[in-house]
Amino acid sequence: MTAIEQIAAIEADARATLAAAGGEGALAAWQSGVFGKGGSLTAILRGLGALAPEERKAVGAAANLAKQALEAALAERRETLKAASLAASAADALDVTLPGRPLRRGRLHPVTQVRREILDIFARLGFATVEGPEVELDEYNFGRLRIPEHHPARDRWDTFWLDEEVDGRQPLLLRTHTSPMQIRHIDTHEPPIRVAVPGRCYRYEATDATHEWMLEQVELLAIDEGLSLANLKGTLQEFARQMFGPERRVLMRNSYFPFVEPGVELAVDCFACPGDNPACPVCRGAGWLEIMGAGMVHPEIIAAAGYDPARYTGFAAGMGVERITMLKFGITDIRDLHANDLRFLSQF
Ligand code: FA5
Repeated sequence: MTAIEQIAAIEADARATLAAAGGEGALAAWQSGVFGKGGSLTAILRGLGALAPEERKAVGAAANLAKQALEAALAERRETLKAASLAASAADALDVTLPGRPLRRGRLHPVTQVRREILDIFARLGFATVEGPEVELDEYNFGRLRIPEHHPARDRWDTFWLDEEVDGRQPLLLRTHTSPMQIRHIDTHEPPIRVAVPGRCYRYEATDATHEWMLEQVELLAIDEGLSLANLKGTLQEFARQMFGPERRVLMRNSYFPFVEPGVELAVDCFACPGDNPACPVCRGAGWLEIMGAGMVHPEIIAAAGYDPARYTGFAAGMGVERITMLKFGITDIRDLHANDLRFLSQF
């Protein structure tokens, strides 16, 4: 092989290796393999001195051409690799300029909103919030509220019973109202008493647009010297004014509950009809939606707790939070409130 042929072979070989070099490390190795001290082209250039002058000129020129061509090929290969690596990192890079995915914002359940509003109003009127158990003793849910076994009022508040008994003493049930907390509270606190008791209640109930088998109530209890029906009326009217606004009409009428004397109920004018539509799901033509029962705490209950009923009197009320929510938001079917349908709930 002549020296010129040798140069051509070195160049072809170097080009092939260069095309396969895949990174900076490979390029550096290639560079020293061709142009380095012991490099293939360096060996040719070093040998030029041993050639005859006319041959040296031709071989030298060919070697220089090969050197320039390979240097250009190296620069080009380096550019190609750099562009490919940039493209690859751009493909899986994080684009910090993209707008973020919006977080879905939750909101409070309408019944929770209204319960908090009720408790806020009563807190401003001086009532502290206390809570009691949902699983209750027969004694507190009925007996001490003057509803003995076989009393017809038990039918009105039929509920879910548990198989267990406490101390083998008496049956446990899911409370039907928050009134048992009246007893628990006067047993453990001295007058003056002013409390509001929120909580879930359960009833064996045929459901319809205004009745659920699970409902929330807020109980009010005030016991002090000199409290009268006027205090109850004033408190409830002020509550209704703050809750529903001055334009809403409120009706207080006679009612019966074994644990109060006298007993009343409070109703608010119907929002779903002009008050005379017998087909109205909310008031059935009555024009009013009952929201709570109330009355003066029965003197026997005050005496049973150890206080003199001639000195201490009190009033109590139990209101339905779902019913008040219906009035607040114009909801015509109570069953929508606990059906867990976000399309419904997210409107409030
Ligand atoms: C009671 O539960 C009495 N404990 C209230 C009470 C307390 C009277 C203190 C006197 C003194 P009643 O069963 O009427 O009473 O229920 C009270 C309120 O709870 C009703 O006015 C209504 O707003 C709501 N309520 C009753 N039953 C249901 C039901 N099935 N679904 C939704 N709300 C109900």
